[in-house]
Amino acid sequence: MRQPLVAGNWKMNGSLASVRELLAGLKEGIGDVKVAEVAVCPPAIYIPETQAQLAGTPISWGGQDLSVHESGAYTGEIAGPMLRDFDCKYVIIGHSERRTYHGETDELVAEKFSAARKSGLVPIFCIGETLEERESGITEEVVARQVDAVIEHCGVEMLGEGVIAYEPVWAIGTGKTASPEQAQEVHAFIRSRVAKSSSDVAEGLRILYGGSMKPDNAAELLAKPDIDGGLIGGASLKAADFLGICTAAND
Ligand code: PGA
Repeated sequence: MRQPLVAGNWKMNGSLASVRELLAGLKEGIGDVKVAEVAVCPPAIYIPETQAQLAGTPISWGGQDLSVHESGAYTGEIAGPMLRDFDCKYVIIGHSERRTYHGETDELVAEKFSAARKSGLVPIFCIGETLEERESGITEEVVARQVDAVIEHCGVEMLGEGVIAYEPVWAIGTGKTASPEQAQEVHAFIRSRVAKSSSDVAEGLRILYGGSMKPDNAAELLAKPDIDGGLIGGASLKAADFLGICTAAND
């Protein structure tokens, strides 16, 4: 049985005051979450505050990106061991915003996957097609290429130590959610792709859905057999909405 994971990707949002308020709200409501594992990924500068507030609660936390290097002359970068210093469990890698605005390639993302594992972090590895790619009928080709890059670089066993987040780019922040059927179809394809290398890894691998997931559409997405949780952007910035998604996994 794969335990669902609901992870919040706060992106570059918030202030110290709003982060404190959000964390307080999460702490207050987390008791209602019965099934899902819950994590939040704040902007790096708010990780110490997040650790201070969430230590000892069932909520874990993580980074939104990491460097492929462990230390050195890489201005502006954050290394895996630094995230571990603040007890981060997870790190998001390969988010479409990093791929689009920072030119991250499949190969670089694969290197980040192994850098994360080397530091003891669990990568939340994001993949997904653009609208143009979906309309050209190459969704499966695109996600297969993205997954294969990690399998080739890291090996399938290491892939199995992470989590995949399928996020159709056209659904991110747009209010357009993939229908549960559309999402399930791609999730099942991703699992079958991994199964070509190892059926055991494929069976145990959590594949999250991301893209305009909200309290009112979470339950039907989470009910699908190959959807094992969510990576939540906009709706993770309000405690009630995020907890609403987390509790949708209760039944
Ligand atoms: P969204 O973002 O929930 O705001 O669509 C999801 C993500 O980018 O991880």
